Order: sequence, then structure tokens, then C-alpha cells
Amino acid sequence: MLKDKKIALYVTGGIAVYKVVDLMRSFIKNGAEVRVAMTESATKFVTPMTFQILSRHEVYVDTFCENNPSHVAHVDLSDWADISVIAPATANTMAKMAYGLADNFVTSALLATASPLFVVPAMNTDMFENPATQENIQTLKSRGIYIVEPDTGFLAEGYEGKGRYPENKRILEELENFIITTEKTLPLRGYKILISAGGTKERIDPVRYITNDSSGKMGHSIAEAAYQYGAEVTLVTASTLESSKAIHRIQVDSASEMFEAIDERFEDVDILIMSAAVSDYGVADAATSKMKKADLKEPLTIELQENPDILKTMGAKKENQFLVGFAAETNQLEDYALKKLAEKNLDLIVANEVGKEGTGFDSDDNQVVIFTKEHQRLDIPKTSKTEIARRILDKVIEELDHHS
Ligand SMILES: Cc1cc2nc3c(=O)[nH]c(=O)nc-3n(C[C@H](O)[C@H](O)[C@H](O)COP(=O)(O)O)c2cc1C
Repeated sequence: MLKDKKIALYVTGGIAVYKVVDLMRSFIKNGAEVRVAMTESATKFVTPMTFQILSRHEVYVDTFCENNPSHVAHVDLSDWADISVIAPATANTMAKMAYGLADNFVTSALLATASPLFVVPAMNTDMFENPATQENIQTLKSRGIYIVEPDTGFLAEGYEGKGRYPENKRILEELENFIITTEKTLPLRGYKILISAGGTKERIDPVRYITNDSSGKMGHSIAEAAYQYGAEVTLVTASTLESSKAIHRIQVDSASEMFEAIDERFEDVDILIMSAAVSDYGVADAATSKMKKADLKEPLTIELQENPDILKTMGAKKENQFLVGFAAETNQLEDYALKKLAEKNLDLIVANEVGKEGTGFDSDDNQVVIFTKEHQRLDIPKTSKTEIARRILDKVIEELDHHS
């Protein structure tokens, strides 16, 4: 999400400045271009040299140090930025922002900034909880400025309280989410997408079940990528993998539960991507209490009955929805995939060969072939599931453009 983003990083005078060095490095590692400006107070904690070397760019501190006659440095920085991050943000600088003061390089540039502002306050608890600071924070929020909630914990002053600079990991996640919500031109903005993931579980009794090797990684990667593309995402998952808070997650167990969750929502979505490995059969008469060995007859027989075919049902129901299926096969990939595409009335099918080491089920990588309704073939060689997810969505977007 940060790739090619231009981030103006404003560093103000709090004890957490040293942590922001790492935050800046993570921006750069994620592909962003960073320019730094510091207040005089911030330079007392970490020298501009550190930020300059790591960002490979001049650090702005003095408003009147105008080295380039072709522009005014603070206005140039504010115009250049796609997003501005103030970290750590002192109580003092937030107060100045709230009142529109422009008495140093940082506050002058911030007052001239039209792009989104993302603020990471960090300070002593009493400073943070002071009504003046709280009012200033409310003022900034009311202007659409994003404020990261500080952590509660052990402060530099030697006692517990709220105001601590949060983990950089959390700041990064919140920044990515903020960018997604502020960006207007994302390719799936305005689309509602439903994604299924994981291997369903068919209960034999309360402690035993039949399942398959699917980890849910592919479906979860598609859900994350769809969210980053601006879609409103619902993920119906049988997997225990994590998902971003912004994704509406519905946890299911069996194929029947997955069917119900999808059937209920299908009418209301634009795209359905069925990447779950749904059991074809479920247990006919699952026991409600644990089966005891002593009570069982040998040979033990478990009767299976056919589960509802989710893809086929949605394929028959679909009106304007774009339907994507997956075909996991061990042989004759293309034949089976094309047959499934036609039989289930899909718009796109993603075929992957399972049973090969390093791709398919439970692996971080995958290698797939995408077929469209017109039998157009797109081979995606072995790469991460995150990348595969983006490539699948790129193809969906291309097809949606053709259809519209
Ligand atoms: C050792 C030390 C640590 C400080 N830590 C913080 C802090 O974490 N947060 C804060 O708001 N102010 C902190 N201050 C106070 C600010 O540095 C002070 O308010 C300063 O005027 C802020 O200037 P600036 O907003 O222009 O950077 C600290 C001061 C000192 C001396």
C-alpha cells in the first residue's frame, strides 16, 4: 500500500523520536519515498544527520534556510506529499496545528498541506489527559485528521499511563488502512466482494471431523488484496488465519454453514470468489456426544451424504454478479478447469495443481492458470500467494471492464 507513496514525515520534540527512525525505515522498505522535516526540539533528541542518511535526502529544520531559489521549501514539501505523518507529535505541535500557528518549518508546512494528515501523539499521561490537549485532539479529528491512539504502558517518566508511543507495526497498519480509506482511485472502490477460504470441517462427533489440507492462505490473501484495492470485503472462512480488522469476517466450520453464509449474502454482492476447499460430502448423522470405542461396532462405518454445491447454486442464481471459482487438481488441470467453468456458469476460473511440493495447499507460494469464459488463458508462474491474489484481482478487474 505504501509503494511509490510520497510521505512527508514531520518529527517533533518527544522522547520517542528515536523510534521514528525505524518507522521511517519501514516506510522506505515498503516502497515509499520519504522526506523529513524536524522541529528544533526534535533535533535535540536525534540529529537530522540520522534521518538524512537513512532517507537519502536533506532534512528540513529552518524555515528561512532557502537553498533552492526556484521554490519555497516548506510549501514545496507540503505540495509534494501524498500523505503527511507527524510522529511523534508533541502536545505543543498539536496545539499549534489546532490553532493554525506557523512559527517553524514543520507547522508552516503543515498549515500549507492539503493532503491527508496522520498524527501519532506521544507524551506523558498528564500532558495527554490535560483537557487542553484533549480538546486540541478533538479539533484535529473534527477536521478529518487521523489520530493514532497512544498505548497505555510504562512511560519514560518511570510510571504507567496512557500516552506511550505505539508499536511501529500498529502505526504502519493504521497508516495503510488510512490510505485505503482516503484514496479515491482504487480499482475496486465501490465494489462489494464476497470471498470464501479454508478447508471446511465435517463433524463426525463433537471432537472429531473430516477435513482437507487447505490452509485458507489463498483466500485470505485475496481478501487482503481486495481490501487494499478499495473493495468492501466479506470473508467467509473456515481457516484460523488472521485477517485485517477492516475485513468483515464470518467464521464457519462445515460446508453447510459456508453455504448458508454465502447464500444469504450473494444477492447483495458484485463479485464472489470461491477459493475455499469445500468438502463434497458431510457426515450423514453426526453424533451429538463423543463416540466411545466400547460402543462402536467393527468395522466402523461412517455414512457420508452429498453437501450442497455452493458454486453451482450461485452460478444458477447469478444475475449481475461476477463469479470466480477455483479448481484444485492433481492432473488434467485444463480439461477439468474448463469443464467446471462451463458447468457452474463461472466468469473466471483459477486452476492450480495440488500435490506438488512448494505450491498449492498450505504453502506460501502458488502457481496458477486463469481461464476466462472465452477460454483465454493466463499462466502465473510460481510466486507468493499475495502476488497471485493481486494478479487474480487484476484479471477480474480487466474482465469487469470488458463486461461494463
Ligand atoms: C527530555 C524531554 C522529553 C520530552 N518528551 C516529550 C514528549 O514525549 N511529548 C511531548 O509532547 N513533549 C515532550 N517534551 C516537551 C517538548 O519537547 C516541548 O514541549 C517542546 O516545546 C516541543 O517542541 P515542538 O513541538 O516544536 O517539537 C519533552 C521534553 C524533554 C526535555
